This record gives sequence, C-alpha cells and structure tokens, in this order.
Amino acid sequence: MKDADDLFDLASLAVAHDETNAFDAVVPPIVQTSLFTFSSYAEMEETYRGLKVRPTYSRGLNPTVRIFEEKLAQLEGAEDALGFGSGMAAISSTIFTFVKPGDRIVCVRHCYPDTYRLNETLLKRFGVTAQYVDGRDQDAVAAALPGAALFYMESPTSWIFETHDIRALAALAKRHDVLTVIDNSWASPVFQRPITMGVDLVLHSASKYLGGHSDVVAGVVAGSNKLIGQIRSATLPYLGGKLSPFDAWLLLRGLRTLPIRMRAHEAAGLSIARRLATHDAVVKVHHPGLGNHLPDGLIGTSGLFSFEFRPGIDIPAFADKLRLFKLGVSWGGHESLVVPAEVVRKQAAGPNSAIDFGIDARCVRLHVGLEGADVLWSDLAGAIDFAARAQT
Ligand SMILES: Cc1ncc(COP(=O)(O)O)c(C=O)c1O
Repeated sequence: MKDADDLFDLASLAVAHDETNAFDAVVPPIVQTSLFTFSSYAEMEETYRGLKVRPTYSRGLNPTVRIFEEKLAQLEGAEDALGFGSGMAAISSTIFTFVKPGDRIVCVRHCYPDTYRLNETLLKRFGVTAQYVDGRDQDAVAAALPGAALFYMESPTSWIFETHDIRALAALAKRHDVLTVIDNSWASPVFQRPITMGVDLVLHSASKYLGGHSDVVAGVVAGSNKLIGQIRSATLPYLGGKLSPFDAWLLLRGLRTLPIRMRAHEAAGLSIARRLATHDAVVKVHHPGLGNHLPDGLIGTSGLFSFEFRPGIDIPAFADKLRLFKLGVSWGGHESLVVPAEVVRKQAAGPNSAIDFGIDARCVRLHVGLEGADVLWSDLAGAIDFAARAQT
C-alpha cells in the first residue's frame, strides 16, 4: 500500500518540468520534424554503426517523444518506455515482438475488445493461439501457463472490472518462465504500478487518462531496457506505429494534471457507483471500489465502471434522455460517457467479445468525468426514472 509520501512523489514527478534548456521555456518545444541531418560523414557513420545515439528520423527517435517516454518510464517505475500512435499499436507491436508461429498466449478473459479481436484474427493468421482464463482463479492460470509464450493481463478488466492479484499472477508466470504484459490504462500509474509488483511490461492506451482531454490517440509500453530494446528493434521500425511529436507534447501536458484528475474521477465515480448500488432500477454495479477493500497494489479507482439494469428498463430511452453523459465509446477524458452493452453486442465486424465473454445485454458502461458528482447524478437519476416510466 502506498502512503501519502509516495503519492506526493508521483504527483511531483508528473508535474516536474522537462529540462530541455530550450530558451528556458517551462514547457518543452515540439520538435516537429521528420528528419535530422548530420554535420559530417564521420558523425553519420558513427550513428549508423550504433556508436552514437541521436535522432536521425522521427519514426525511430524524436526529442519531444523521448521526453514523454522517459517521464512515463519514471512514473511506472520502469527503466525505459516506447511511445506509439495508439494503444493498439503498442499492444500489437509488443505481442508480435515476443511470439512466433505455433506459440500459445494466455490472456485474461474480459480483456479489451480489440485486444480480443487482435488475438482472434491477426495472431491466429500467423499461427498463434490465445487461451482465455479467469484471472481471479490462480489455479486455472497456473494450469494454463506451462509452455505459454506470454501472459496478457488486464486488471481491472474491461466492461465488468474484475480485479486480479497481480503480484501473485506475476510470480506464477515467473515460476513458469512466461513473460508478463499488463494493460494498465484503467488505473494509470497514479493508482497501480505493476512493474513494482513483478510484471515485465506495462501498456497503456495513452488516449485515456494519460492524455486526459480526448484530443489525442496514443499508446505506450514500459519495461526493462532489454525488453523495450527488443520491441524497439524487432517490430517498431517495421510496423511503424510511432507516436508523433505533437501528440507526445499533448501527453506531457496531460501528465501534469494526471494525479489531481485521477483523484477527481475516483471521488465522483465512487459517489455515483454508491448511489446506483442502492437504486431500485439497478441489480448490480461492477466497480472495484464497492467491496470491503481494494486488491493488493491497487490504491485507488478511476471513473470507468458499469452497472446492470433490472429487466423492464427501456435502455434506448435512458440513453437518449441523458444530457451531460454523452453516448461515446472511448473514456479517460474530462467528459462523462455512456455505452450500453446491447449496442456493443450488435457490432457487425469481427469476433464479438461482449457476446463471447457473456456481457449481459442490460449492462451499461459509464465513464464519470470531471463535471461534478451531484450534477451527473441528477442527469443519471432523471434518465433512469424516465426509462423506468417508459418501460414497454
Ligand atoms: C483498456 C483499453 N486498452 C487499450 C485500448 C486501445 O487503445 P487505443 O484506442 O488508444 O488504440 C483501449 C481503448 O479503448 C482500452 O479501453
């Protein structure tokens, strides 16, 4: 469990100035260039021979992107990090670095839907299979791990926010010599630092809380120098999904307010989850903070959770009646959002994890933004009352 001093350290790290010494500016410049030239033949040769590390082309290395990568590595307690043009670019480049045809990966059930689709489409085409486990069941995980190439975790999971004992699962994987990867987008490093619990690689959709303003699509992976070096050389240059300098600059701006935003999402999210839990139109609330205690290593909760309506509530009427909550699929920004599972279950393209993992059609996912718990509750409660009266 982290104490207040640790949280203060993280906050100061997130806010810390990025010392580029450019014009004594408090905010680093956006080095908006694709290309860097060499001053001489000798310098060019030295760089190509790997004797000197310096930017040559922004698909590989860019100073603004590098500041973001170094800051994120520090926040996650990792040696290094690599920024990508989306969370999925980070996820696919990471998985493809460590698998080969014939391999099997173990993945927790209720992983992010496009991670599921990546496993069930592209990875399958390249001869890699995925086996899904209930991450809460350590015996099931232990039985699946021997011989696996990689263990892909997410805790809390997508849609129903199951939490896992990350420290115990990472130790199990170590015993079987299986590489561990976790999607930490939900908690952010403010509330959960999986590297410190023994996980090898930590991924983020930086489009969510790290950016925090719904104005950037980005991803990042953090880990040891060795593992990040493997991703940097084995897949990043060829899949090419590198983070852009402007997006890195937006992420640096987002990181400066990450700790205070996370605490605001937590307070408003918990307040709304508790009110939903006692509402007679609701049968279940999936929020990790409603139990007696949080799992080891998770020291706070974000604004993303879901609940299930009792039968007889008109979900389209509920969704259309909302005014502050918008209908939208991403999350992690300032705005509050709602996604009904019954819509997601109808998604036409590709394997459908909402159906395959059995997400109830009466489930609704909420992202609680920064508008304030009381006004959001009044929006939600009004729409629920309307939908209960509109029942068919
Ligand atoms: C938990 C989680 N992981 C990964 C992603 C993918 O990230 P991106 O949309 O930045 O590619 C998302 C996006 O919604 C997500 O919710």
